[in-house]
Amino acid sequence: MPILTITFADETRTVTCATNQLIGEVVLASGLPLEQPCAGRGTCGKCKVIAEGALTPHDEIERKYLLAAERAANVRLACRARVLGNARVTLLPIVVYSNKIFARSDEFRANDDPLGLAIDLGSTTVAAFLVSLKSGTIYAGAGALNQQTIFGADVIARLHAAREHADQLSALAQSSIRQAIAALKLSQRVWTRIERVVIVGNTAMHHLLLRYPVDRIAVLPFQPYTRAAIQDARNVFGDLFPLHARVMLPPLIGGFVGSDTTACLAAFDFDCARVPMLAIDLGTNGEVMATDGKTILVASTAAGPAF
Ligand code: FES
Repeated sequence: MPILTITFADETRTVTCATNQLIGEVVLASGLPLEQPCAGRGTCGKCKVIAEGALTPHDEIERKYLLAAERAANVRLACRARVLGNARVTLLPIVVYSNKIFARSDEFRANDDPLGLAIDLGSTTVAAFLVSLKSGTIYAGAGALNQQTIFGADVIARLHAAREHADQLSALAQSSIRQAIAALKLSQRVWTRIERVVIVGNTAMHHLLLRYPVDRIAVLPFQPYTRAAIQDARNVFGDLFPLHARVMLPPLIGGFVGSDTTACLAAFDFDCARVPMLAIDLGTNGEVMATDGKTILVASTAAGPAF
């Protein structure tokens, strides 16, 4: 069986695969990150990797999307090139603009305040924040790519993929959360002080993480399987979080408006607004929230394609 050696930054993994298997499929199995914005339909030309060895020749789609110079430099589309024998693949760096510490205060090292982790599972980026449960101070924040992008940049492509790859999508979400937390570089002492974890995300991310059925949100009228909060999910995530910490997922609102919006409404006190207020979460899946002080309206749309 062919052996594919995959390199991403300073990490190298060797994977045995089937003859004629797509490079993208093998990378997925390796657990290393790869963006496939059109979910492998061959319409975006963005799943570029550098690959050499026993591979199928460039096909029509690759000739369309890759410059002659790129083809000469062994650039391939991971969703088109197939492995015929031993080969090497180098994954290109994925730019996660939020992959840096957002805010930082070392105060938590000098006090004994109980700590919490706030996780925002976005369609493209996963953010993790270390927070004081006493004062609400955000000490540090960091981000990582949502590795589910190997199944497409948009949530609809991922819901489609969930029909066959639900377990993998959940595992990729958890792995992305793990990466975001790792980027916080918390010591073991700080880790043991974490008492609460709150995870929010849009409806699709929430359901894919929890392995909930997604057939209802993929078709009109796009309703969640459930909107209910989970008060303690510590048994669901293994050792992803400190074992003693209570893990909570706030309720969803409806349609694609998820618990990230619930959290935003709570953070800005929309329920007791004295003046009209508007909030916009301009993400891959974007939401608009508005209130006149009496009624709160929220709406969601796919904002990603605008970029
Ligand atoms: S062309 Fe879009 S993922 Fe390969």
